[in-house]
Amino acid sequence: MAKYVLVSGGAGYIGSHVTVELLNAGYEVIVADNMSNCDETCYEGVKKITGRADLPLIKMDFCDLEATRKLFKEHQIDAVIHFAAFKAVGESVAEPLKYYKNNLESFVNVITAAHENGGCNILFSSSATVYGEPEKLPVTEKSPRQPATSPYGETKQISEDILSACVKAYTTDGIIKGIALRYFNPIGAHPSALIGELPRGVPNNLVPFITQTAIGKRECLSIFGNDYPTPDGTCLRDYIDVVDLAKAHVAAVSRMLDGKMEESYEVFNVGTGRPVSVLELVNSFEKVNNVKLNYRFTDRRAGDVMSVYADPSLANEKLGWKAERSIDETLESAWKWEKSLAGKE
Ligand code: UFG
Repeated sequence: MAKYVLVSGGAGYIGSHVTVELLNAGYEVIVADNMSNCDETCYEGVKKITGRADLPLIKMDFCDLEATRKLFKEHQIDAVIHFAAFKAVGESVAEPLKYYKNNLESFVNVITAAHENGGCNILFSSSATVYGEPEKLPVTEKSPRQPATSPYGETKQISEDILSACVKAYTTDGIIKGIALRYFNPIGAHPSALIGELPRGVPNNLVPFITQTAIGKRECLSIFGNDYPTPDGTCLRDYIDVVDLAKAHVAAVSRMLDGKMEESYEVFNVGTGRPVSVLELVNSFEKVNNVKLNYRFTDRRAGDVMSVYADPSLANEKLGWKAERSIDETLESAWKWEKSLAGKE
């Protein structure tokens, strides 16, 4: 019997890659999205990649509790992967209520409906942002969470806490189980170039800014700070390929559905364990794609941490998952995606 996975926010960047890998692994997927931060490009891409022209897309807002209840009543849902959330750090500082309301309410509604409907396995898309500026590197799941530096980061921490509390509280009926995956820096696109990141307006994140500069949409990449006490003066991050990241979700869903969880709430870092500096990433992009990038060093960006990278050994061991794509392959895929978007314009 096929198992059904609801992917909330499934038409977005990470959700679409996860949908592909779930379908490849034999799961049935219900994609639900309010389309507030994406169009149907990735959803159409998923259908093409998987040959699943019948893949349902339910347009709905998880802040609508009645609609969420209806979804759970009308569908078999064995697990939920919850992506539906706003994700722009700067915007969350300017408009905190938008973030608290949307990101927390939608998640509470998913858990409420799942609970009322007899329970569910819930996978929450968390972030390495919960570690703040870590005291020790690499960070393990036991590294302390630091006070959040933005309302966005705070919603990630609070959502982890909500999930953990609900798992504990409803443990007598044993009906909610949860996993939080803490992503490091997801980058790249599907090798088919049919799905990828579609930032609206000026990108905040490094790789979309690089690809848009290389294609001529942006004049010049600013590298935020080259005076950090790191080997080349620029910040260190753990860039995780989005297809590798998607595969970690499949491994986590299987762990939940196959009854392999050791605790009813578990947390895993999803990263490579490999620190890469901003300058190294820029140089690799230029080299592997044979393009020249216009960039300059500017002041540090407020709120940036200097270095953060994962110890992914728990996910390696317990999920049987490991990041596989090299940074070069990932940067090639990001460039291929940007070029395919340019071809459509
Ligand atoms: N960077 C630049 N120029 C840019 C964009 C980024 O130099 O135009 C640098 C940043 O200073 C940082 C690195 O590239 O050193 C990565 O920046 P991103 O914005 O791509 O990613 P962050 O590590 O800042 O952001 C990540 C996640 C967020 C999360 C945040 C918390 O993408 O979801 O960490 O700090 F909230």
